[in-house]
Amino acid sequence: MSEMITLALTKGRVLKDTLPLLAEVGIEPLEDPADSRKLIFPTTHAQVQFVVLRGSDVPTYVQFGTADLGVSGKDVILEHGGEGFYELLDLQIARCRLMTAGMQGVPLRQGRIRVATKFVNIARRYYAEQGRQVDVVKLYGAMELAPIMGLADEIVDIVDTGNTLRANGLEAREVIAPVTSRLIVNKAAMKTKHALLQPLVEALGLAVQKRMAGS
Ligand code: PRP
Repeated sequence: MSEMITLALTKGRVLKDTLPLLAEVGIEPLEDPADSRKLIFPTTHAQVQFVVLRGSDVPTYVQFGTADLGVSGKDVILEHGGEGFYELLDLQIARCRLMTAGMQGVPLRQGRIRVATKFVNIARRYYAEQGRQVDVVKLYGAMELAPIMGLADEIVDIVDTGNTLRANGLEAREVIAPVTSRLIVNKAAMKTKHALLQPLVEALGLAVQKRMAGS
């Protein structure tokens, strides 16, 4: 069997923004992942297949080389730690910010505070850098509810339009990091599959540059 490249993608916002970019370099899934319960998708490129995963699992698949390439948000990469892969390209898509947020008009109390987030590593690192003592509580969704219900003083979450925060009476406070999707590659695959990966990475890089020049 000829060598294959497996590219790990995520459903939702990232998939919606990534598929057109991949189409620009001639790679399209034979079936629309957004409309399918399948997890593995052959493409118009005989040596490229997609796997569709939970966002936080993409760096793990690429770290262990189960997927050669992945498209992952900078937020997810920072939370993972970046072990076992290189970040090759900023795809300039799915742009948002990783921020702290709390109840509108409620000043942050002195002393130890509680922070709810799914980005526990990022939160621990960020508040430690600020010299703040925090207890971090891991949540898996609906972070905005935590300050309202008194579970936490602040949350760490991604903010795009800010509508979700506003709709829940919360305010964005500090920017921890700007976020876009990145193309990541397994370190070993970068060497062993170089001939197959290089043209693909170059074409994607050019497609991103062209888009940026046109915007
Ligand atoms: C993210 C995030 C916020 C929202 C922010 O959730 O957790 O809830 O988007 O976007 P906004 O500033 O435009 O309102 P997402 O919908 O990505 O789902 P998730 O909770 O699974 O991350």
